[in-house]
Amino acid sequence: MRILVMHGPNLNLLGRREQSLYGEKTLDEINALLKKEGQTMNVEVVAFQSNHEGALIDFIQEQTPSARGIVINPGALTHYGLSLADALADSKLPIIEVHLSNIYNREDWRARSVIAPIARGQISGLGWKGYLAALQALVVELKAEASP
Ligand code: DQA
Repeated sequence: MRILVMHGPNLNLLGRREQSLYGEKTLDEINALLKKEGQTMNVEVVAFQSNHEGALIDFIQEQTPSARGIVINPGALTHYGLSLADALADSKLPIIEVHLSNIYNREDWRARSVIAPIARGQISGLGWKGYLAALQALVVELKAEASP
């Protein structure tokens, strides 16, 4: 089983960027943890980050046929990335939205997600552990769907 783990704009700077909000781990460290967790569940984790909405969309379109689900932290695209939301919806894959920080206790504009309506679920505010929880939940759901 192949799961896409996607990260939007500015998340390449994790570890250096506003550590009090986003934590100390780098993106490479988070991706390594996810791949390791994937191995324990017999899941191939394919990670991708871009600062460009179009590149994220290209990746979704290219990878959808061989993937079973998507864990995504869309960064600020969460709040206005309508083409990204459309691409995720068009993929028909189950989507789990992740945010390192709690988007509901920050600026008002962060509390609106254009991704949430098409996501199966959302984890916000648990730091890097939110990615792990999202991956685990998605895989449990997919396995249950495969053999109810
Ligand atoms: C974020 C929250 C967004 O509002 C912000 O623009 C980000 C990171 C998070 O992980 O908490 O880039 O998605």
